[in-house]
Parts: sequence; C-alpha cells; structure tokens
Amino acid sequence: MANTIVLGMQWGDEGKGKIIDLVCPAFDAVVRYQGGHNAGHTVKFGDQHFALHLLPSGIFLPGTRCVLGNGMVIDPEAFFTELAEIQEAGIETEGRVFISERAQIILPTQVSLDQAREETRGANKIGTTARGIGPAYEARSARSGLRACDLAASDLDERLRVQHRQIAPQLADLGAEPPMRPSALARLCGDWAQRLAPHLCDTAALLNRWIGKRRRILFEGAQGALLDIDHGTYPYVTSSSCTAGGVCTGTGVPPRRIGGVLGVIKAYVTRVGGGPFTTELLDEVGEHLRDRGNEVGTTTGRPRRCGWFDAVAARYATMLNGANALALTKLDVLDELDEIKVCTGYRYRGEELRDFPARLSVLQEAEPIYRTVPGWQESTVGVLEVDDLPQAARDYIALLEDEVGAPIGLISTGPRREETILVDRKEMRRLMSGKLDVIAEHRDAA
Ligand code: GDP
Ligand code: IMO
Ligand code: MG
Repeated sequence: MANTIVLGMQWGDEGKGKIIDLVCPAFDAVVRYQGGHNAGHTVKFGDQHFALHLLPSGIFLPGTRCVLGNGMVIDPEAFFTELAEIQEAGIETEGRVFISERAQIILPTQVSLDQAREETRGANKIGTTARGIGPAYEARSARSGLRACDLAASDLDERLRVQHRQIAPQLADLGAEPPMRPSALARLCGDWAQRLAPHLCDTAALLNRWIGKRRRILFEGAQGALLDIDHGTYPYVTSSSCTAGGVCTGTGVPPRRIGGVLGVIKAYVTRVGGGPFTTELLDEVGEHLRDRGNEVGTTTGRPRRCGWFDAVAARYATMLNGANALALTKLDVLDELDEIKVCTGYRYRGEELRDFPARLSVLQEAEPIYRTVPGWQESTVGVLEVDDLPQAARDYIALLEDEVGAPIGLISTGPRREETILVDRKEMRRLMSGKLDVIAEHRDAA
C-alpha cells in the first residue's frame, strides 16, 4: 500500500507544490489535510506558472481527484477565485474537486481579527499571512466555528450572533473597524452554501472508500514541520498540525492506511515572518540565496529570510514525521557559492546541543556549529541524472543524508517539473508504488 504523505520539513516553502505536481501520476488523489490559503504552492512546467493556495497540487493532471480535508480552514471567496483562475487556464475541474463538509469556514470577521492583532503586536509580530487562519482555528477549538455543512444550518443566524458577540469587543479593543453585521454575514453564508454545494461531501467516507478499492492517495502538507502548532517554534507557528500526525485527524484516514512519508527539504533554509532562525544569514550570502532562489513569498510577496541548511532542525523534522525518504529542492541555487556551510549542532552557553530545543530563549541564543564544504561553482540547473552532478554537489547531498539520517530519493534542480532527478532508491520506489517510470514520463512530457 502506498498512500504517501508529502510534507515540508522546514518553515514552509520547501517546494512542496513542485514535488507533488511531479509525483502525482503515481496516485489517484491528492488531499490537503490542514491549513488554508496561507499556503502558496508554486507549480511550473514548460512556460506555465501557477500559484496554488487551497487546491491540491494534483489539479493539473486530468483525472486526479483533489480533496480539501476536514482539517482545513477554507475561505470560500479564496476558493472560488482560485478555482475560476484554474478553469480559465483551461484545466478541467468538473467533478474532481471535493471539499469536506466538516472543514472549517474562515469568516471575514476572523480575517479582520488576524489583521488587527498583527498590527498591534509590535516587535512580537508573528508575521501571519493575515488570512484569518489563527482566529478560524481558535473558533474551531472554542467550538464556535462554522463548518462547511453549517453554512446552511437552521441555527446559522444564532451562531453568527454568538460569534459577533465574541469578536466585536476584541476588535474594538484593538482599535479596529467594527465587524461585519451578523445579518450581512448570514446572506454571505447562504450564497457560499449554494456555490460550495457541488463540492461538499463526507470526504473521510470518500477517501476510505477509495482506499478500500486500492486507489492510491497522496496527502499534501502545507507549511512545514517547524511551523506545526505543537512541534514548531511556538508561538511563531501556524495554527494547524502540519506534521504527519495531522493527516489522520485532518482527513479521517486511519494510521494503518498510511504507507510512508516523503519529506521535502530545501538545500538551504528560508523562513517568512517572525521567530527564531539559528542559521539565518543577514549578509550578502543571504541576499544571494534570496535573489538566486527567488525567495519571495508566494502568498504575501514578502521577502523570505534565508540561511544555511540546519541539520539539527532537519533531524528533528525527520523524527517527528518519520520521513522514509527526502526530496531535496533548490540544489541549483547553491551553484555559484565557493563554500557552503551546514549546521550540524547548536552551541548554547558553552554546551553542544544535538537536539532541537523547545525553549524559544535557547533557540534565540543558540549559535550554529558549522561544517564548511567546498561549493561546485558550476551549473546544475536542469540536471536529470545524479551522475551528471559535479562531485562536490554529490558530496554535499551525501553529507545531508548522513547528517539528517534519511535517504534522498529526488533532487530538484530548477523550479520546473522537468528539472528533477529521480533517484532509484528502495524507499522512494516504495513510497511511489514502484511507479518511478510513470513519474519520469510525466517529467519528460512537460
Ligand atoms: P511550497 O510552498 O513548499 O510549495 O514552495 P513555494 O512554491 O512557496 O516556494 C518554492 C519556490 O521555489 C517556488 O518559487 C518554486 O518555483 C521554486 N522552486 C522549487 N524547486 C526549485 C528548484 O529546485 N530550484 C529552483 N531554482 N527553484 C525551485
Ligand atoms: P506553504 O504551504 C511559509 C507562516 C507565516 C507566519 C506563520 C503564521 O506555502 O509552505 P498564519 O497566517 O499561518 O497564521 O501565519 O506561518 N506561514 C508560512 N510560511 N510558507 C507557508 O505556507 C506559510 N503559511 C504560513 O509567515 O510566520
Ligand atoms: Mg509556499
């Protein structure tokens, strides 16, 4: 059985969209299990370029089913806009996009709250995407949220009034505009209920039925392990369970139906928004990575913070997710560097830490311990075979495998689908149900 999770191992933007679009022919369905349109997953092939926020990255392969699971928070306007854009680009979506009727809905009042909070946080800004993600998950936990199936509920008006009574004083306190009136919200919800109706269903039942028929499922992570609400650099995290554990609760697919995990990991590290970042480079090397790697937020357009590869954090992410194999992305971005550093440990008050610390103050104070290796100073853009990589690049890959403790089964050498090395390794074959040849064909057809 190869129902496989593909997720981010750092602070997001590892290149999940690119990898999932490439490997999806080995699967029948691609399923998002957490997050919302805070995600920005880039897919490029040939001269085509898309940024997905809610739709799973399997949408470009005709016939692949796309599911938005119950663990997600969905802004219906964002969904309709994205679906229309994809349809205008000529992608047939009819009958392929399913939304869990148990997914939470993001209301405009929650977006206002997210924005107002960020504006008043000052130096402690989380740097959220201002999409209402945090307030929507808060409402879910407080049991005052609206699920997609509740948009047409008979007690909708009363529930919106309760929410209004909770949010209005908070917004007033933050000096923000008053929230949308419950009556106006109710009209909006009525409209959304109608327009979402063709997509809504019990996706847990659907997925388990498909799995019963031996269809293969790919679970698509958004954000990354270090942004996970439980395991990430709290409070500088998102509000959902991005790690592998989130798949079961976020889809209703039980653990025994999940075959393994492919962790997507960038050859260096980036982070958007606030929070600790031990290997951050505030110098010209950081700027070089940002320029060459085009490290600008897909969702918010903010410049991403850049730094060296952090093996302490990567080992932690590998442990949390049980990554069977890794997809290494953006190797080509390092092409011009004369030397490259890898953080193998942290030094904190004279002590060497090998494990990722929980306390923010320790993370903030910790100094990276680096191993420096020579760069290759040669283009790897678009390379398709490991043997065609410069020796120093192969040594770098071997070092990362060694430090992180998981095999690299895929190496990305450019943003496009066709710029990828598939490494024939046992773990990778298993995660892809032995369909590496089908994936290679898909890559070469672009
Ligand atoms: P995601 O959120 O994990 O899907 O990642 P994003 O799409 O937000 O950010 C990854 C960025 O890197 C996008 O602009 C991709 O087009 C680009 N990208 C992905 N893989 C590679 C690669 O191997 N090399 C280069 N140069 N760019 C890549
Ligand atoms: P993808 O799926 C990178 C970050 C925000 C902020 C924190 C909380 O494209 O990898 P939120 O709006 O979720 O409450 O913001 O999380 N963040 C991301 N960073 N990639 C993402 O998604 C992100 N989604 C949220 O920048 O620091
Ligand atoms: Mg992204």
